[in-house]
Amino acid sequence: MRPTGAFPSTRMRRMRRDDFSRRLMRESTLSADDLIYPVFVLDGQSRTEVVASMPGVERVTLDRLLPVAERALELGVPALALFPVIDAAGKTPGAEEAWNPDGLVPRVVSELKRRFPELGVITDVALDPYTSHGQDGLIDPDDPRGYVLNDETLEALAKQARCHAEAGADVVAPSDMMDGRVARIRAELDEGGFIHTRILAYSAKYASSFYGPFRDAVGSAANLAGGDKYTYQMDPANSDEAIREVALDIAEGADMFMVKPGMPYLDIVRRVKAELGVPTYVYQVSGEYAMLRAAIANGWLAERACIMEALLAFKRAGADGILTYFALDAARWLKGGA
Ligand code: PBG
Repeated sequence: MRPTGAFPSTRMRRMRRDDFSRRLMRESTLSADDLIYPVFVLDGQSRTEVVASMPGVERVTLDRLLPVAERALELGVPALALFPVIDAAGKTPGAEEAWNPDGLVPRVVSELKRRFPELGVITDVALDPYTSHGQDGLIDPDDPRGYVLNDETLEALAKQARCHAEAGADVVAPSDMMDGRVARIRAELDEGGFIHTRILAYSAKYASSFYGPFRDAVGSAANLAGGDKYTYQMDPANSDEAIREVALDIAEGADMFMVKPGMPYLDIVRRVKAELGVPTYVYQVSGEYAMLRAAIANGWLAERACIMEALLAFKRAGADGILTYFALDAARWLKGGA
């Protein structure tokens, strides 16, 4: 029976009724072009290690990374982000291994660029994989609380970034949160003639507990030994501060701007994109990956639908690109694969 009385003059459900009209009014889309795939690399030959807290993510040696890079390229993923696993012998208080031209990262970068010149290679610029104390910078030996020194760290980061650029990195990505690092790195790169090397600044990087599984993956959790990064990474309570951080990195010459973590920080992604209008990226971090994987493994969440919804939400919030451990899965699904 037809109900009597006033009809709604606007029916939001009209456009939702059929697939064609849902598609016509869809505001955001996800494509393989939006994805950056983070990978963990190990020294040596033919070794693969699983990361217990990140099911499906592995640490691999260069020979085993090559087919992964090839797959990324086939699937249309524009770039890989490299994260090195450095063994204990390579970790020192001064992080000298970070700018060793024969080190793991430069070797991996040059081989990747030699084999797959069209695949973007992004390197992480931060000292934590290389420091015996697990901090992203150098520690003040005279400070009982082990304060991470800013300006001394900048010199180390400049050397690290230059070493990556010399090896052929397309993008260097400072994730250390020192003040003035973008300007210092830009000057160093330009002086070396690397005017085309892009800087992806982790501008709004929060002191998040969602990085736990990553620190297991690169083996820095043990070195950090209960320490924290509150004196340089941002307070999760703050939003205006993120805008100031991005504005500074714009002024210092960064090309791309990262918000990290992702899902709990969608408001920050939105503000950065809307207020500053810069190329905005978001990092769906290890803890977000672990949560989704755990719920999926338990049968509590639907794998493909939930992963794709989370990624699409980053686009809706304003992200131009997403760094995600799901990049290859998502790209495969976008191509119609199972
Ligand atoms: C450190 C770094 C971290 C991540 C990437 N680079 C963690 C940290 O600050 O300790 C986290 C990434 C993730 O959780 O997926 N330079």
